[in-house]
Amino acid sequence: MTTSSVLFSLARRLEGKVALITGGASGIGESTAKLFARHGAKVVVADIQNEKGQQVCREIVDQGGVASFIHCNVTVEDDVQAAVETAVKSNSRLDIMFNNAGIVIPFKPITEIGKSDAERQLAVNVIGVLMGIKHAGRAMAATGSGSIINTASVGSISGGLTVSPYTASKHAVVGLTKDAAVDLGRHGVRVNCISPHLLASPLSCDSLGVDAKVVENAVEKSSVLKVSPLKAEDISHAALYLASDESRYVNGHNLVVDGGYTITNPSLGELLYPSG
Ligand SMILES: NC(=O)c1ccc[n+]([C@@H]2O[C@H](COP(=O)([O-])OP(=O)(O)OC[C@H]3O[C@@H](n4cnc5c(N)ncnc54)[C@H](O)[C@@H]3O)[C@@H](O)[C@H]2O)c1
Repeated sequence: MTTSSVLFSLARRLEGKVALITGGASGIGESTAKLFARHGAKVVVADIQNEKGQQVCREIVDQGGVASFIHCNVTVEDDVQAAVETAVKSNSRLDIMFNNAGIVIPFKPITEIGKSDAERQLAVNVIGVLMGIKHAGRAMAATGSGSIINTASVGSISGGLTVSPYTASKHAVVGLTKDAAVDLGRHGVRVNCISPHLLASPLSCDSLGVDAKVVENAVEKSSVLKVSPLKAEDISHAALYLASDESRYVNGHNLVVDGGYTITNPSLGELLYPSG
């Protein structure tokens, strides 16, 4: 291999790989679809938002990438299976599955939560991820390799940050990740998750009823790491690492991208050392 071809392959870290991204029409999924495509992956965007998903694919193709859209509701197992089959057809294999689609139900105290809201929350964030692991895992096990990445949240670690069924759903994603990492690891398939801190996206802004600036100001003021606020692109770069062969021995890991938010509770320190 020449120096320039080594540099080229480092620069395009997913060259020749096929990636399926649920929730790829918006936010973290959209940003990841674009980043994966820039790194040489053939991307399949799977989402319930057809127009937005198709637009993301057009933008990728306009930039010289390869992308296609498939309508997929992750709570419908046939949709998930069809999305995996479509991705496999494009290159006879599936290398990367990003189970990223998620929702957050309206905030209510736990004593007020309706059963149907709780079920909707778990259907998308837990059963949707499970079905993604199941069908991608089958396809990947058949070829003896693959990387499955699930989107969890800082709500997979800390309580009290958001509505309880969401917290429960993201704890469940970590559990599913660990179990699948063991189950599929024997077939050469890795399963990891990413836990983002709060960032401005339609999901966070709509659920809080505020605009991106308000979300980013709150994150900036409460952050441990004093840098500019977390962006969807930061999560995409974490996903790129887990998708690429550079993470070939990383399995069952929860990659927390929160600037250190969940490793400390600053409230006592602020009382004891108010001047910082
Ligand atoms: N934004 C945050 O602050 C934050 C923090 C931690 C974790 N997350 C997680 O990141 C993931 C992506 O969220 P985002 O912030 O990019 O939000 P987003 O709303 O921008 O994107 C979510 C996408 O998922 C799609 N989706 C929703 N339900 C679906 C379904 N049933 N089937 C298929 N697609 C569906 C939506 O259409 C949308 O395109 C979610 O799992 C979310 O829980 C977000």
